[in-house]
Amino acid sequence: MKSMVTITALEPLRQQLHEWRMAGERIAFVATMGNLHQGHLQLVREARQVADRVVCSIFVNPMQFGPDEDFAHYPRTLEVDQQLLQSEATDLLFHPPIDVIYPAGTAETTSVQVPVVSEGLCDDFRPGHFTGVATVVARLFLMVQPDIALFGRKDYQQLAVLKKMVSDLCFPIQIIAVETVREADGLALSSRNQYLAEAERHSAPLLYQTLNQLAEAVRDGNIDFSELEQRAIETLQQAGFRPDYVQVRQVDDLSPAHPDLPRWVVLAAAYLGKARLIDNVTI
Ligand code: PAF
Repeated sequence: MKSMVTITALEPLRQQLHEWRMAGERIAFVATMGNLHQGHLQLVREARQVADRVVCSIFVNPMQFGPDEDFAHYPRTLEVDQQLLQSEATDLLFHPPIDVIYPAGTAETTSVQVPVVSEGLCDDFRPGHFTGVATVVARLFLMVQPDIALFGRKDYQQLAVLKKMVSDLCFPIQIIAVETVREADGLALSSRNQYLAEAERHSAPLLYQTLNQLAEAVRDGNIDFSELEQRAIETLQQAGFRPDYVQVRQVDDLSPAHPDLPRWVVLAAAYLGKARLIDNVTI
């Protein structure tokens, strides 16, 4: 297997990508914050299927963390990540330092704010988070200029924000949404699962179960969404979760669920101990 190159600066990144593009090769891109798990590797595997070259980035983006969030403690595991990416036949890892992504600092960098889909849900609890995500992904897109970019469905609102950004700003990039990878008991894989204490890890799959129960009730004809959301919140609270929200929305633009347009997704975020878990189920 060819060995993966790790690049930290912009000029060598551009040179390598230029070479591949001149050879007519299509480039797929997977942006990550590292601490890779099977969910990320699934993105890489699907990237491998759709392009000639796979580029990944690892960058823990300060702009998407709130002042009281886990930026400083976010797990950084570069060497293991490199091995995992190499074993999935990644061609290039872009691992820039902060000043390559934000030469002017985060406060003085042009930012990308995606209206409406960025509002509500996680934004009510992590104000500014999606501006941080959209800004870093826009910058990475302009640096890498991939043909295709892949993101996981677990971060459903992030995916909706990025799809809208690509459409509104005419990025010539195809976005592919990749199914959530789960543990055998249903818990969605996340780097934050490692914050769960042992007992919490046992209760954690209840988030997905509760969303499935709500989805099932809707499929059975109950469309009293606020009553179902409230019941789900109580179920989670009784099991020791501290839910931020459970909400049914329209699948495409995340606008409030409309009883006459049955294309719904139920989304939730809830703390369990120190870990903030998110998940969603399409109804
Ligand atoms: O989903 C993530 O890991 C991050 O939000 C992303 C898309 C890499 C942007 O920093």
